[in-house]
Amino acid sequence: MRILLIGSGGREHALAWALGARAGNDELFIAPGNAGTAELGQNTALDILDFPAVGRFVSEHRIELLVVGPEQPLVAGIRDYFESVEALSRVPVFGPPAKGALLEGSKSFAKEFMKRHEIPTARYREITDAYLEEGFAFMDTLIPPIVIKADGLAAGKGVLIIDDHREAREALKSVLSGRFGTAGKKVVIEEFLPGTEMSVFALCDGKHYVLLPTAKDYKRIGEGDRGPNTGGMGAIAPVPFAGAELMKKIEERIVKPTVKGLVSEGIDYRGVIYFGLMIVKDEPYVIEYNCRFGDPEAEVIIPLIKDELPELLYRTALGRLGQTGPLAFEGAAATVILASGGYPGTYEKGKPIRGLEEVKDSIVFHAGTRRDKNGQLLSNGGRVMAVTSLAPQLSEALKISMKNAAKIEFEGKYFRRDIGQDVVE
Ligand code: AMP
Ligand code: GLY
Repeated sequence: MRILLIGSGGREHALAWALGARAGNDELFIAPGNAGTAELGQNTALDILDFPAVGRFVSEHRIELLVVGPEQPLVAGIRDYFESVEALSRVPVFGPPAKGALLEGSKSFAKEFMKRHEIPTARYREITDAYLEEGFAFMDTLIPPIVIKADGLAAGKGVLIIDDHREAREALKSVLSGRFGTAGKKVVIEEFLPGTEMSVFALCDGKHYVLLPTAKDYKRIGEGDRGPNTGGMGAIAPVPFAGAELMKKIEERIVKPTVKGLVSEGIDYRGVIYFGLMIVKDEPYVIEYNCRFGDPEAEVIIPLIKDELPELLYRTALGRLGQTGPLAFEGAAATVILASGGYPGTYEKGKPIRGLEEVKDSIVFHAGTRRDKNGQLLSNGGRVMAVTSLAPQLSEALKISMKNAAKIEFEGKYFRRDIGQDVVE
């Protein structure tokens, strides 16, 4: 099967790893990809938001499946574009249409969707500049901390959690006056839910869904969950505390009503639904939806999937998951991100990476990497690599990843040594 995969992060290397094995190297294309994906297929330098250019590539290379990794092209309507162009409308696209991607692209859309379908989430109010006083009044009803979220995409940085009312008022004003650019023209203010976070992933084909392994990511830069938020510094799967009882509540109260809600609103959602959850005293609430695989969650979930991924994604894109029973998973996975010194603030790129040949028993997914003209591997982003390990027990997988994370070297390398320690049994 000839596949075009869109994206360039660790998530896309993990997808390429599972897709390439089956598709064959000459049938997998990645746009734009990174140094890791280049070993599994053919990288191609396309602008992933230039849909006519993506469409031309798909036609010229007779692509049979388009897999969209990141959220931006989905929110911008890549699936809708393919459906609207005669020559492309037969190419199955793994990814929701723009209306479905709004679950991630607009916090206020997501909150209203949850309200319409009675999906448990934090109490909230949506505010624009003209209703500042209403925002203040709603905040006065909340016990701090107070959560303020920019409505639009803000690369994971659009959420503020603030400890007192006075500061929260100032923060609300700053977001509405452009602190997160146009993403903050509209704002969601919500009550803080104290609990434990976890993520659930479902493949949805427009009507049916199948669950993927659960995962937990570690968003803060510092050990002990301190310091600024990042794209994610590591992840584990499955979540040890997510037993059958909790999973049943999540499926009945959150996953099923979400899929049913999408169907009832005429949204033909074919792709991943990512449910970011807070578990408060054994009760699940939705904190956020994403319209794609998580990164670095993909780097632990995908290696646990035993079914053929090309087939699963193809059936999802065609609306044919109905025949797929529950997927079987065994063992545990852990991934540790190697980041550039200074990330998520300013950092340097272009540092030579060494020691990969010393790594044993882990899969190294590249995130921000490239090769220079002599073939030397160089860092090329804030998150540089994800070191993934599989083992029967999570504790063992974590140990292997930590050992190998220490072997890979580049100037300024940083990684968290406490990934998974809060949940390991
Ligand atoms: P989001 O981008 O919506 O996932 O928010 C980023 C992070 O902020 C989440 O991963 C949570 O750790 C935290 N967060 C967001 N909303 C809430 C909430 N209502 N209560 C507690 N924590 C929250
Ligand atoms: N790791 C969080 C995300 O992908 O949104």
